[in-house]
Amino acid sequence: MSGVRHLYVHLPFCAHRCGYCDFVTVTGRAGGHGAYVDALLTELALERELLAPELETVFLGGGTPTFTEPAAFERLLRALPPAQEVTVEANPETVTQELARSLRRLGVNRVSLGAQSFRPHLLSVLERVAQPDTVRRAFYHLRDAGFDNISFDLIYGIPGQSASDLEADLGDALELGPEHLSCYELEAKPGTRFTHTHGEELARQADAMETYFEVVVDRLTSAGYRWYETANFCRTPDRADGRDFRARHNLAYWLGRDYLGVGIGAVSTIQGRRWRNSPRLAAYVAALAGGMRPERELEPLPLDVRQRERVMLGLRLDEPLLVEGLDDVLDHPALDRLQRLGLVRSTGTTLALTSRGRMLGGGVTADLLA
Ligand SMILES: C[S@@+](CC[C@H](N)C(=O)[O-])C[C@H]1O[C@@H](n2cnc3c(N)ncnc32)[C@H](O)[C@@H]1O
Ligand code: SF4
Repeated sequence: MSGVRHLYVHLPFCAHRCGYCDFVTVTGRAGGHGAYVDALLTELALERELLAPELETVFLGGGTPTFTEPAAFERLLRALPPAQEVTVEANPETVTQELARSLRRLGVNRVSLGAQSFRPHLLSVLERVAQPDTVRRAFYHLRDAGFDNISFDLIYGIPGQSASDLEADLGDALELGPEHLSCYELEAKPGTRFTHTHGEELARQADAMETYFEVVVDRLTSAGYRWYETANFCRTPDRADGRDFRARHNLAYWLGRDYLGVGIGAVSTIQGRRWRNSPRLAAYVAALAGGMRPERELEPLPLDVRQRERVMLGLRLDEPLLVEGLDDVLDHPALDRLQRLGLVRSTGTTLALTSRGRMLGGGVTADLLA
C-alpha cells in the first residue's frame, strides 16, 4: 500500500467547447455518461490499494463535472471514498438550486465556479454560456445550499479586456465575497481557432500582462486575500474565523505530494512514477468494461527532474521551500545575484521569492535552476 491521500477524478463532458480551452473535453455524448462513470469506478477499484484508508482531498475536475447526467453523477459521488476536502468544478449555468443541494447532500464541501469574467462582451469572446447574472445566481444557490467554501476562476488577458474591465471584474467578484479566487492569465495555444481569430489583439495587449497581474495581486491583497500561490488567493484566517481556505488538493500538487488521477487524460504521480491515461474516451471505456487498465503513457521521472519540479512548484507558494536535497539543481551564483537584486530570499535552509520575484514568476525560478 502506497498511502496516496489525494484523488483526482476527470469528468470530460461539456455542453460546448469554448474556443480557448485546451483541456481533455468531450461534447455531444449525452448517452455515454453512465458508461464513463462505470469505467471511472472500475479504474478506481483497480487502483484502490494505492490509496490511503483515509483521503485528504478528492477533486472532480473537467470538462464540466456538473454537466454530467445527474443519475450518473450522483452514482459516482456516492461511490467515491470520503475525504476532508471534496471539490467539484462547476460551470455557472449548470448550478440550479437542486444541483447545489444535491452536491451538498452527497458530501461535496467545496465548489470551484468557472466565472471567468463578469463583463458580457468578454464572456462572449470566451464563448461562455453564462452571463454575469448566471454567475451571481449560481453563487447564491451554492450559499443557500450551505456551501461556505466557494472559489471563483477568473481569466485576465481576454482579447479586448481593458485595465478598467479587469478592475471591474475583480470588484464584481469581491462583492460576492468568495473564500477563494484563482486568476489565470489567458493562455492561447498557437494554431487554435481562438488564436487565429484573436491573434492580433492578443499580440497587441501582450505587453500589458505584467501590469494586469500586478492589478490582480494589488486589488485582491488590499481586499484582505492571501496571495498564497502565483495565481491563487484565499481569505486570510482573520477574515475567515481562523480557517485555512487554501485549495488543499492543488496545494498537494505544489508541495510535490503523490496523487492518483482517474479518467481520460488524468495524470498520476506515485512514488517517483508518473503516468497519463490516454485521452481517447471510447478506448478508455472499452478497456475498463473488459476489466483492463486503460492505455497509459509513462513519463520517466529521474531524480533531477523531480528536484527541478519541486523548485518550480514550491516557489509558486508564499511559504519558503526547504532546500534540503535540492542543492544539486540550484545555480548558486545565480541565487546570490537574484538575492542581491531583491528577487529571492534565502536563509541557507529555505528559499522563497520576494513579492517582486513572485511578480516576475517563472523567469526568476528558471534563472535559479542550474
Ligand atoms: C478545467 S477548466 C474547467 C472549468 C469549467 N469547465 C469552466 O469552464 O468553468 C478550469 C479553469 O481553467 C481555466 N482555463 C481554462 N482554459 C484556460 C486558458 N486557455 N487560459 C487560462 N485559463 C484557462 C479557467 O479559468 C477554468 O475555469
Ligand atoms: S466549459 Fe470549461 S472545460 Fe468545457 S470547453 Fe469550456 S472551458 Fe473547457
